[in-house]
Amino acid sequence: MTDHELQELLGRLTIEEKVGQLVQCNASQFIRNNLEMTGPDGELLPAEELCRVMGSLLTFEDARQARELQDMHLAADPNKIPLLLMLDVIHGLRTTYPIPLAMGCTFDDELLAECADMARKESSACGVHVTFNPMVDTARDARWGRILETNSEEPLINSRMGAALVRVTQGQDLSRKENVACCVKHYAAYGAGEAGRDYNTVELSERTLRETYFPAYKACVDAGVRLVMPSFNSLNGIPSVANKWLMNQVLREEWGFDGVVISDYNAVGELVSHGVASDLRDAVRMSMEAGCDIDMVRNAYYLHLADLVREGTVPEEALNEAVLRVLNLKNELGLFENPYHGADEEAEKQLYLCREHREIARRAAEESAVLLKNEGILPFSRDVKRIALIGPFAEEKRLNGFWSRPGAEQYTVTIPEGIRALLPEVRLDIERGCGACFEDTDRSRIDAAVEAARKADAVILAVGEPENYSGEGRSRAELSLPGPQMELARRVIAANPHTAVVLFNGRPLVLTELSDIAPALLEMWYPGTEGGNALARLLWGEANPCGKLSAGLPRSVGQYPMPYNRTNTGRPKPPPDSRSVPFTSCYLDMPNLPLYSFGYGLSYTDFIYESLTMDQKSMNRDGEIRVTVTLRNAGQRAGKEAVQLYLQDPVASVVRPVQQLIDYRKVALKPGERAEVEFVITEKQLRLVNAECREVSEPGEFRISAGYADHLILTQSFELKE
Ligand code: GLC
Repeated sequence: MTDHELQELLGRLTIEEKVGQLVQCNASQFIRNNLEMTGPDGELLPAEELCRVMGSLLTFEDARQARELQDMHLAADPNKIPLLLMLDVIHGLRTTYPIPLAMGCTFDDELLAECADMARKESSACGVHVTFNPMVDTARDARWGRILETNSEEPLINSRMGAALVRVTQGQDLSRKENVACCVKHYAAYGAGEAGRDYNTVELSERTLRETYFPAYKACVDAGVRLVMPSFNSLNGIPSVANKWLMNQVLREEWGFDGVVISDYNAVGELVSHGVASDLRDAVRMSMEAGCDIDMVRNAYYLHLADLVREGTVPEEALNEAVLRVLNLKNELGLFENPYHGADEEAEKQLYLCREHREIARRAAEESAVLLKNEGILPFSRDVKRIALIGPFAEEKRLNGFWSRPGAEQYTVTIPEGIRALLPEVRLDIERGCGACFEDTDRSRIDAAVEAARKADAVILAVGEPENYSGEGRSRAELSLPGPQMELARRVIAANPHTAVVLFNGRPLVLTELSDIAPALLEMWYPGTEGGNALARLLWGEANPCGKLSAGLPRSVGQYPMPYNRTNTGRPKPPPDSRSVPFTSCYLDMPNLPLYSFGYGLSYTDFIYESLTMDQKSMNRDGEIRVTVTLRNAGQRAGKEAVQLYLQDPVASVVRPVQQLIDYRKVALKPGERAEVEFVITEKQLRLVNAECREVSEPGEFRISAGYADHLILTQSFELKE
């Protein structure tokens, strides 16, 4: 449709029909004749009426349903305005790749893009028009269960991977049926909730928001994302969905976002719980004034918006603008010409879990794994004939993570399946040993596990955190291994020191004791569909671990928040970190540094950082400096390394981080090979947000280093001139 035709369509709509375009229902209400509205809404709403006027649906299951729902609506809607069909496709639709926090450990934007492209193809075939992805909330507190959904504690990684996902998923032309619109979320600073509790209050200075929390959302807006979802939390006293400064001034005026804003699930209704709206009607007024276009599920707009417009409380012009943004999005997707978009049952059969997609998922699972410790245990030799596979995850199929699609576990390759596919002749003695839930107190099977460990050539101890212990509404105050897993670990490792401990978890855990006693420690996160195959290949050296931590691992939950890019303070603790120094910024009972730092990860080979050189020692604002890091593979195995570049700004108008990741590049090297990895530094990377909340660069000395957080090497200085 042309813009003129859209305006004409808008002109034909009644106020109720306009409001309907801003109403999103849950598909389950219509699929199973379930008239009970999903979510907290106990009110029964007239499904027939909603079916006629609603503008979009979320959470349907496949192409057949997508077509049925669209047909059902179009048959009822006299204006024949097609539905938008939306779905959470966070890390794969049917072929599940690793959780975003694991993907951040690859430090590989291209691999992320490959996974996103696979998810796009499967989502399009399923009939998805909009995916509620990417989630780019910077998170620095693993007590928050949704840390699994973001790529990193570092905004640069969240920005680059989020923008890559938007570009790949949306393509150049959304009207092409293979492309899917993206919705970046949760705007803003949802990951900064007090005490790591989900939905909790966020209080941040504007300077911190602009320097740390806004960049990743803005990167996705700059990449052309078509929807933005405000977050549940209040931000400096105002819930995001009603926060005019956040939504009108920053998002629309400063950043120029012209797409659709969709609330989170019942976030409009929750303004009453927040205590800023006196009732649902008031909540609708506030949300409209802040530019929230679509009301997800609660249907507060359905119940009250038409009246508010009729009485003049909400200008009809504001309603028209919101409706036009939604109609524009439907038009960009080509839905008026093809309301089914990419829904295709045949394509589903060909694409879901196809060999190519499984291979991508397996590579991603291999490259997101982080080898934390290895005292000569890994890789296992092919001579190992008898393996004791022990632990609550020994045969677990739920290795996909909170936001994997329902039923994903039925397709997961388990650890035994992966090992048997690689090494059919290996004997596997499998003992669960214990459970992994808080309430698992049964220790009766630990003896059998210990006995199996004692008799084995080598042990794989598979422990972690159940899949539903991280994700939305899954915050934890402690970050230990739940249940009697540590008791199992102590006794198994004592029985057979040739033990590799493998972790499955959706958040950084406190591994201090486990790290002390484990001869080898491999972090697999939730690796997705191909988890068992990836793990087998990593354990026997068919794949070489190359993941680097996308978030530091704490010694204790008491260290949070512990951003890697901390500032020095006026009383920095002098090294060594192991001892406390009175009257400096430290703890009496614990070192300051994480157990394992951001950017850390081991390999089966040895990478030597030989040099860091710069083509000049100073630059002007319009100049650039070329930095070359020379890296050599001095080991016996081919491997990949995420080369990281860190900046320090020793003197500035505001305190600056002691280390800040400003670039990274993944390189593959064969044994003996050397690579010269080149980075280009520009003025933009030297900027800070000053006390007046302006983004500026300030002349003076800067330092550049390679290595990883808290372990900077090859440091060189250069000057930024006026
Ligand atoms: C949830 C989440 C959001 C998701 C939405 C739709 O509550 O906060 O990330 O996209 O509802 O499922």
